Amino acid sequence: MVTTLTTAGARAVARCEELARPPYSDSAEGLTRTWLSPAFHAAQKRVAEWMAEAGMTVRRDPATNLIGRYEGAVPGGPALVIGSHLDSVRNAGHYDGPLGIMLGIEAVAALAAAGTRLPFAIEVHAYGDEEGSRFPAAMLTSRAVAGTLAPGMLDITDRDGVQLADLVDTVAFPAAARAPGEVIAYLEAHIEQGPVLEAEGLAVGTVTGIAAQLRFACEVVGTAGHAGTTAMALRRDAVAGLAEMVLAAEDVARAGPADLVATVGVIEAAPGAANVISGRAGFTLDVRAGLAATRDAAAEAILSRCHAIAERRGLAFAARPVHDLPPAPCDPALLHLLDAATAAAGHRPFRLVSGAGHDAMILAALCPTAMLFIRCRGGVSHNPAEHVEPADAEAALQVMSGFIQRLGATS
Ligand code: GLV
Ligand code: MN
Ligand code: MN
Repeated sequence: MVTTLTTAGARAVARCEELARPPYSDSAEGLTRTWLSPAFHAAQKRVAEWMAEAGMTVRRDPATNLIGRYEGAVPGGPALVIGSHLDSVRNAGHYDGPLGIMLGIEAVAALAAAGTRLPFAIEVHAYGDEEGSRFPAAMLTSRAVAGTLAPGMLDITDRDGVQLADLVDTVAFPAAARAPGEVIAYLEAHIEQGPVLEAEGLAVGTVTGIAAQLRFACEVVGTAGHAGTTAMALRRDAVAGLAEMVLAAEDVARAGPADLVATVGVIEAAPGAANVISGRAGFTLDVRAGLAATRDAAAEAILSRCHAIAERRGLAFAARPVHDLPPAPCDPALLHLLDAATAAAGHRPFRLVSGAGHDAMILAALCPTAMLFIRCRGGVSHNPAEHVEPADAEAALQVMSGFIQRLGATS
């Protein structure tokens, strides 16, 4: 698709489309851009050019984040951070992540073109691993900025056996941490990834908070055997056990409140041959809900069902927690500013919750946060069919600019 560049919002959309192809995608078939891959580095280089063109000084911090900075009236002062992520899921849509960065760049470009300096600096942050699509962890680079990396978090290895320490200086990485006084607020614009705004007939919405997340790496161990000679009653089939566990997760989540969701997104079986009963199988389990208590009770119920299934089938089962994020409410004062900016831009203010995770959840430990959702067609995301109208991106940009102005007036 080729977007006509009639507005800055349309340019933001067009830039996301440019980033969806090689060399900015690891695959020519569709968009896959995992953290620290060649496509990721190429995309950082291109985005750095756009940041510089918009009037920012650009650097890469020790946690691999690309940071563009536009000084305020007093150079070196605290900053409003506008951010999102540059990595993608496998076979991704074009806007999940990059659109928030592109809109941040456009917001700064407009200020620079008008020669406006605010009472604070603006930094545009392009984070690295929000999706967790390469390593068994997510949001490490924004955690570094927020100063919330826990010991051992960087001791990770990707599916191909590459250690994070082979790719980055894991000792220097935490030095990306920012002091609370350096950042006055965090703003993230992101596609909704759900159907609510479309159903409301709205281009944008104010996010009230982000659901709590919990993720596990699970392993089922049985006995590998001959598919032709082992009687059904004698099998300890890891894949059959896994299948029952996946359905147990679905069952528990379906029985809970509407905001409770559980997903098995990755399954693996070893040795992985058509004529071998699987002796070992692995899967990821992702559980989310608005309240941590709901999420935790559901995770406990799922894991206890998995243990019972394993016991009945003579299998071993283990679940290792790999990701735990509490719910992240957005800041009430900033929500009001976003609502006011939305009304001033001619749209009906509307509030909604985010079931998807975002770097804003992490930044909440450092500063007050705000998120603006942008309508996407059919609510489709994590799918190449993801689509955003340039006019909606432009509406978001106007709201972001209004928000920045209002924040300036209150600072
Ligand atoms: C990020 O897209 C997430 O919600 O997992
Ligand atoms: Mn995503
Ligand atoms: Mn995202």
